[in-house]
Amino acid sequence: MKKLAIIGCGGIGTYHLEHFIEYTDIELAGFCDLIPERAQSFVEKAGCGQAFTDFRVMYDTVKPDMVFICVPPYCHGDIEFETIRRGIPMFVEKPVALDLELAYQIRNEIQKKRLITAVGLQCRYASIVDDTRDFVNKHRVTFVDMVRMGGVPGVEWWRDKKRSGGQIVEQTIHNIDMVRYMIGEPVEVYTMAARGFVTDVVNYDTDDVSTTTVRFECGALGSLSTGCYATTGEAFDSRITFSARDCRLDHYILDTVNIYGLADEQAGENGLVFKGDGTMQAGGSAVTIKDKVDAGRICDRTFVDAVLTGDPSAIRSPYADAVRTMEFVMAMNKSIETGMPVKVIHN
Ligand SMILES: NC(=O)c1ccc[n+]([C@@H]2O[C@H](COP(=O)([O-])OP(=O)(O)OC[C@H]3O[C@@H](n4cnc5c(N)ncnc54)[C@H](O)[C@@H]3O)[C@@H](O)[C@H]2O)c1
Repeated sequence: MKKLAIIGCGGIGTYHLEHFIEYTDIELAGFCDLIPERAQSFVEKAGCGQAFTDFRVMYDTVKPDMVFICVPPYCHGDIEFETIRRGIPMFVEKPVALDLELAYQIRNEIQKKRLITAVGLQCRYASIVDDTRDFVNKHRVTFVDMVRMGGVPGVEWWRDKKRSGGQIVEQTIHNIDMVRYMIGEPVEVYTMAARGFVTDVVNYDTDDVSTTTVRFECGALGSLSTGCYATTGEAFDSRITFSARDCRLDHYILDTVNIYGLADEQAGENGLVFKGDGTMQAGGSAVTIKDKVDAGRICDRTFVDAVLTGDPSAIRSPYADAVRTMEFVMAMNKSIETGMPVKVIHN
């Protein structure tokens, strides 16, 4: 049986472990964290495997066939280079790095070894993503309006922009990656950020809110706004709207798509399939499509299956593609720093 290892036994490591525990065709062999109790707690939860505090020792001892790298944004580098050197397929949590040069070096080493990789941009695996991509292909989108407003996450490194990259890079990268996956590459961004609203969080040193104007290669303009200032669920917001001249789609990540402006009969003509199973309804000029899958489970299993079969074609976010999303969000950060519009360069 192929062996799986995890590096980083914190919040997202726990999320992945809950999926792996259901697998019957994989051996959960090694768990590594700088904090020994965390690695040990994974052994207990899995009911198997060994705990380590040094990933090199884990690699020497366990010799895993695949690894999930679930460390904070500022901890990438040595782990990936050693993993590539040993030829171990790797799933890396987003953001893959905080420094584009480092991400390029890792990507280039991956390409030399033709290593199977995936990145934890699991929202791409939702079933409603296919509906939205279908809409964007059939209707020329003029404007994208993305909003993600929430609170400050609990992990302490998050509130320090030097270690997390800030909200755009660490968190809203999911939403921005979805925009990119649906409408294509950005050309130029102009981002403003503001501080001074979040005053009650200890050791807080990051932007409270930002708004970006973006021009896409397809000609559309976009407005991408995100904030971590919200203290109640009522102040939260998360949505991506794709507007065409005669219709509009609201994409609620991992949840629902609402399409406005397609009459019921037009919906048929536009290729939207009414399955009659309650997951898709026509109501006047609006069509609602509910997501049908657990995207996080599919994301993990897709990578594991790719390693088992040697066929990576079903992976929706390989490392090299995630680097392109990094180029997008890092350009946004650079625009905040310089106060100027920034071209998004693809290297
Ligand atoms: N895909 C998603 O939806 C999603 C959700 C949450 C977090 N994440 C990402 O996962 C990453 C980790 O986030 P988290 O919330 O789990 O953080 P966390 O702080 O809860 O856990 C990270 C763990 O990594 C360990 N670690 C750091 N360096 C290490 C090293 N060299 N060797 C072994 N262990 C090491 C830490 O001790 C810690 O236990 C972040 O990049 C975050 O953006 C992704």
